[in-house]
Amino acid sequence: MSTATVRVPAKINLCLGVGPVREDGYHPLATVYQAVDLHDEVRATSRDDDAITVAVHSELDVRSESVLVPEDDDNLAVKAARLLRETTGVMTGVDLAIRKVIPVAGGMAGGSADAAAALVACNDVWATGLSRAELEEIAAQLGSDVPFLLHGGNAIGGGRGETISPVLARGSYHWVFAMAHEGLSTKAVYAEFDRLNDGSRVPDPVVPDALLAALRAGDAEALGDALSNDLTEAALSLRPELQDTLEIGIEAGALGAILSGSGPTALFLASDEQHSLDIAFALSSAAGCADVVQSRGPVTGARSTS
Ligand code: C5P
Repeated sequence: MSTATVRVPAKINLCLGVGPVREDGYHPLATVYQAVDLHDEVRATSRDDDAITVAVHSELDVRSESVLVPEDDDNLAVKAARLLRETTGVMTGVDLAIRKVIPVAGGMAGGSADAAAALVACNDVWATGLSRAELEEIAAQLGSDVPFLLHGGNAIGGGRGETISPVLARGSYHWVFAMAHEGLSTKAVYAEFDRLNDGSRVPDPVVPDALLAALRAGDAEALGDALSNDLTEAALSLRPELQDTLEIGIEAGALGAILSGSGPTALFLASDEQHSLDIAFALSSAAGCADVVQSRGPVTGARSTS
């Protein structure tokens, strides 16, 4: 029996440009991803038979998130293991144990992170020997964010988010995340985006030059000004109270404040550790805020710890 443990980060989108809905139902994206220091862990243990099982343990004491994460074949980590097995012809089963810290349905790609970690862990315990590039191809079939979570760091995301290309970036950034009491379905937010834009011409998405310049310079203040998210209106339409959370962070002096991906997690950029502590303190008493987490980015993608 062989075991591998993989740590995988959450992602944020420093900008999220969303284009007109495609024929396959997805939206073309122009985004810059950053992997942040908020990690799930997936342990894979090979089995004697061909079963694939999953158990989820939540580290989040505020909400019983594990209740929301399916512990069956609908779990994205199980889908990842199945797809790797189909691709490589392996016959062995695996037990997957997920330690969840990334918020569920929080706009931080928690499910996709577990899928990325399961690919790396199963590739290890099954000794399938796939390269990172081969794993990235499988990852793209599992979800739009999964290839980036293998990669980590900073990257430009194109296509529906699954096409990753390098971006010149410097610096380490201080983030504060405000987790909401209840998750938001990514699908529902994109559907609301379509509803709000019905009848209007949605332009093709672009990554703003100001954001790329800020990252190249490692300039936190300029990055704060350049943060953007085209899903804001749709997410706020479904959760108007998120506006209050964003405003509390801005009043506390955040360099920038946006929703993370499709929300509802709100993210705030701070200039240093003390500033991040001040913003976290201001948010901790906000009514819409279930939990506040200080974090750093960028960090590496899914990596084996054993
Ligand atoms: O790719 P993933 O399965 O994580 O996406 C979840 C849902 O989010 C999709 O089913 C789709 O409704 C929506 N989505 C989208 N356009 C994207 C990414 C996701 O419409 N680029």
